[in-house]
Amino acid sequence: MRSSRTGVFSLLILIFFQICYVSAVTEDYNALQALKSEWKISSKIWKGSDPCVPDSWVGIVCNNNRVISISLINLNLEGKLPPEISTLIELQTLDLSANPKLSGSLPESLGNLEKLHSLILMGCNFTGSIPDSIGSLKELDNLSLNSNKFSGTIPASFGRLSKLFWLDIDDNQIEGELPVSTTSSPGLDMLLATHHFHFGNNKLSGIIPDKLFSSNMNLVHVLFDGNQFTGKIPDSLGLVKSLTVLRLDRNRLRGDIPSSLNNLTSLQELYLANNRLTGSMPNLTSLTNLYTLDVSNNFLTVAPVPSWIPSLQSLSTLRMEGIQLDGPVPASLFSPRQLEIVYLKRNLINETLDFGTNYSQMLDFVDLRNNDITGYKPAANSTIQAVMLADNQVCKDAANKLSPYCVGVQPNFNYSTLPTHCSRPCGSGREQNQGCHCMYPLTGVFTLRSPSFSGFNKTYFKTLQENIADYFNKDKYPVASVEIKGVTENQADYHLLITLLIFPKDQDRFNQTGMDSVLSAFSLQDYKPPPPRFGPYVFNAEPYSQVPGGSNSGNTGIIIGAVVGVAVLLLLLTIAGIYALRQKQRAKRARDQLNPFGKWDKIKNNVDAPRLMGAKAFTFEEMSKCTNGFSQANDVGGGGYGQVYKGKLPSGQLIAIKRAQQGSMQGGLEFKTEIELLSRVHHKNVVKLLGFCFDQSEQMLVYEYIPNGSLRDGLEGKNGIKLDWTRRLKIALGSGKGLAYLHELADPPIIHRDVKSNNILLDEHLTAKVADFGLSKLVGDPEKAHVTTQVKGTMGYLDPEYYMTNQLTEKSDVYGFGVVMLELLTGKSPIDRGSYVVKEVKKKMDKSKIMYDLQEMLDTGIIANSGNLEGFEKYVDVALRCVEPEGVNRPTMGEVVQDIESILRLAGLNPNADSATYEEASGDPYGKNF
Ligand SMILES: *[C@@H]1O[C@H](CO)[C@@H](O)[C@H](O)[C@H]1NC(C)=O
Ligand SMILES: *[C@@H]1O[C@H](CO)[C@@H](O)[C@H](O)[C@H]1NC(C)=O
Ligand SMILES: *[C@@H]1O[C@H](CO)[C@@H](O)[C@H](O)[C@H]1NC(C)=O
Ligand SMILES: *[C@@H]1O[C@H](CO)[C@@H](O)[C@H](O)[C@H]1NC(C)=O
Ligand SMILES: *[C@@H]1O[C@H](CO)[C@@H](O)[C@H](O)[C@H]1NC(C)=O
Ligand SMILES: *[C@@H]1O[C@H](CO)[C@@H](O)[C@H](O)[C@H]1NC(C)=O
Repeated sequence: MRSSRTGVFSLLILIFFQICYVSAVTEDYNALQALKSEWKISSKIWKGSDPCVPDSWVGIVCNNNRVISISLINLNLEGKLPPEISTLIELQTLDLSANPKLSGSLPESLGNLEKLHSLILMGCNFTGSIPDSIGSLKELDNLSLNSNKFSGTIPASFGRLSKLFWLDIDDNQIEGELPVSTTSSPGLDMLLATHHFHFGNNKLSGIIPDKLFSSNMNLVHVLFDGNQFTGKIPDSLGLVKSLTVLRLDRNRLRGDIPSSLNNLTSLQELYLANNRLTGSMPNLTSLTNLYTLDVSNNFLTVAPVPSWIPSLQSLSTLRMEGIQLDGPVPASLFSPRQLEIVYLKRNLINETLDFGTNYSQMLDFVDLRNNDITGYKPAANSTIQAVMLADNQVCKDAANKLSPYCVGVQPNFNYSTLPTHCSRPCGSGREQNQGCHCMYPLTGVFTLRSPSFSGFNKTYFKTLQENIADYFNKDKYPVASVEIKGVTENQADYHLLITLLIFPKDQDRFNQTGMDSVLSAFSLQDYKPPPPRFGPYVFNAEPYSQVPGGSNSGNTGIIIGAVVGVAVLLLLLTIAGIYALRQKQRAKRARDQLNPFGKWDKIKNNVDAPRLMGAKAFTFEEMSKCTNGFSQANDVGGGGYGQVYKGKLPSGQLIAIKRAQQGSMQGGLEFKTEIELLSRVHHKNVVKLLGFCFDQSEQMLVYEYIPNGSLRDGLEGKNGIKLDWTRRLKIALGSGKGLAYLHELADPPIIHRDVKSNNILLDEHLTAKVADFGLSKLVGDPEKAHVTTQVKGTMGYLDPEYYMTNQLTEKSDVYGFGVVMLELLTGKSPIDRGSYVVKEVKKKMDKSKIMYDLQEMLDTGIIANSGNLEGFEKYVDVALRCVEPEGVNRPTMGEVVQDIESILRLAGLNPNADSATYEEASGDPYGKNF
């Protein structure tokens, strides 16, 4: 009795939880739907009906079917932060950084998100007051509201954020006083866990309360610069021993500089410039870690250069402009060993400037303009880049007037790590990495808010660039490299603005998820620059639009750049000009062309369209259904063109769907050409087109599914296939036959134009199938014989003659095929670390030796299972004839096929066997038993 009652009870509990669970999921879903429609997020990036399916909704992370993280950085979101957000009560991270069209005020109900630990809204356009309710987010440790348009005051309730580590409200229009606690109200002085007070560039006013600081605090950075604070610098600052950066510059502070600052022995950066401070400098000899001391433009009493400055052993930047320093500059001032920059403009300094012998070897720049200096004794053996003495007595002397130190040459501040050796520029929006690959890098400004160097010594930028690159050199980041494009210094606040380019890995652009992972490393401050020189930073990403790729070269997407040896380099230089011109002409023509699908819109109603032979028009729904909603699991690869999905038709037939990505569609004409062309092609060595989809502004091509991937994958061992000599011969034969068919038997004949190992697929019997006719061209096309309008193809396989003359013939395919034949020998990509396979083979080979002495270059897999490589020399001969520089000297594909057949006979195989199978091998197609 008892146990059955317990049973029923448990069942009820179970049902109860079941209901709760279901309704909870729905609740999160509704809130996300509200965000989706408010921010106009496309169903392409939030796809499917379950936000918690990993990778189906960009930027959403769930745990137990509840949304715990929303990270949508730099996605050009538009709209407000809707109140529905507050129903996502399991949310821990909300990061909407760098969406400058997000506006409106924050809903008070944000306070319901009790589990939130990161609220990051930097670089948006939010307005209004910061809601009081944020003070009730007890778990909050990162609150970044910087670079918005918030107004109103800092809520006193922030004082309750006992776990807050990072508080950044920099660059807003926040006003009023800093709230400190009273018997009835909390205040910022209670934030004992907080390391960062970044309040700069607002309209904060009133005094900085003495009560704000205590020895219990753990503040590291206090950035109050660029506000309207008045009154004294509080003595109590000296109690916060953990401080490393203190910026109080550009306020209206009065009174003496407190000597208690000398207690801050960890301090690295001290900025007190542009205030109304009076009195004399206190003795700050204990600040032995200080890199930057800036007290410029205050109302200090007339006094000599403080004698204790040389005891600041770490000093790197000294700024004491316009503070009525008089008397001579003691030579010892230049003695701190790391001193780089000294600004002493607009003072009353007199006598002779003498660096003595004991000056810093790192000294770069000394600015003493507008003083009373009468003589100058240059430093012996100096590496100083510039000494500036204009507007001093010494420069009134006719003899000195024209010397560099009087003319005032500004040192060159420029710095860039972008490659300069690439031979042709990229299209707009793209940039070249060190390998000269044109890509769409993620760009943004990495702002150092108080660096302890001024950028005259480029070593720091190099260090930073390498450090960031190292940081992203982890599997979880889709980053290939990081470069600095330029550096500027903001003269008003000495922020160093470093323009970073972050290059994607394996693709020519980032997808949204990849971009988000990179940008959150900055917004969450997971990336930390190497201490101690760089100080606090922010990274402001520039909008990233996934502009359509300039390359339409099928699977690889990236046209490999130009490091292909001097010959090709020179070639490219010659061609760059012609190419750019033709690009332009082509673009113009394309605009002028009518949409070839204009009359084809009723395709869904089966009204006819292109001249198709047996290919079927599929609807978007059909495509979506057979790929499980284009799920990640069905995604089998992609490139510049878009993604390739594996699908299953209701009949059970497997298909491969090549789906052009939004904004990266082919020209309509090219799409139609490809469909028409492919539908007419029927050969066992050519991939068969089953249909297409031109619906809901999508372009998809439906092919038979070829299970073993590309020859390139095979050579890289990605599909577990062992490619011994005989298999390679048969693959060469099969793909050669496919091309010979296109050239000689297809009606009309077709030039492939992008023959490469990526475009040769292997089926379950390892039969080679030529794929990807995106660039194909009808031979005898009415459009001006074979002169094409734009060089297309992939570097490494490009026929140099075609490149030079734009005369497209079948022989260009023969060249590409010759490169593939050599690739079959070496296993490497044709351009591998700057060496070009055609050149390397020619250089290495010695016809007088056995196997032409090419053994060293061979892919190990070749030899693995074939004792001898029958016909090897003949194979090399054929391949090299295919890559003859002049087309007339190359064989036709038909001749190539005959030659390979005879090599197969030499190797004791039957070239007419049905496919490139392994009848003579172990019967184990994939060699997995070895
Ligand atoms: C930001 O909001 C203001 C109105 O508050 C508007 O004028 C401005 O255009 C917005 N900026 C952007 C980038 O949308
Ligand atoms: C900090 O500075 C003040 C003022 O110079 C001094 O009186 C006090 O002893 C110092 N405190 C410590 C702990 O060094
Ligand atoms: C500065 O203070 C240090 C130690 O407190 C002292 O040794 C030194 O003489 C002082 N220097 C000046 C110029 O007051
Ligand atoms: C330099 O200035 C100091 C302070 O004003 C003054 O005492 C000194 O005589 C001046 N030196 C010369 C050579 O004029
Ligand atoms: C530049 O800075 C680095 C790092 O501090 C230093 O090692 C190097 O000597 C500096 N170079 C010059 C020319 O000052
Ligand atoms: C400058 O360099 C020369 C040769 O390197 C050396 O003989 C001389 O002593 C150096 N002078 C100083 C002041 O360091």
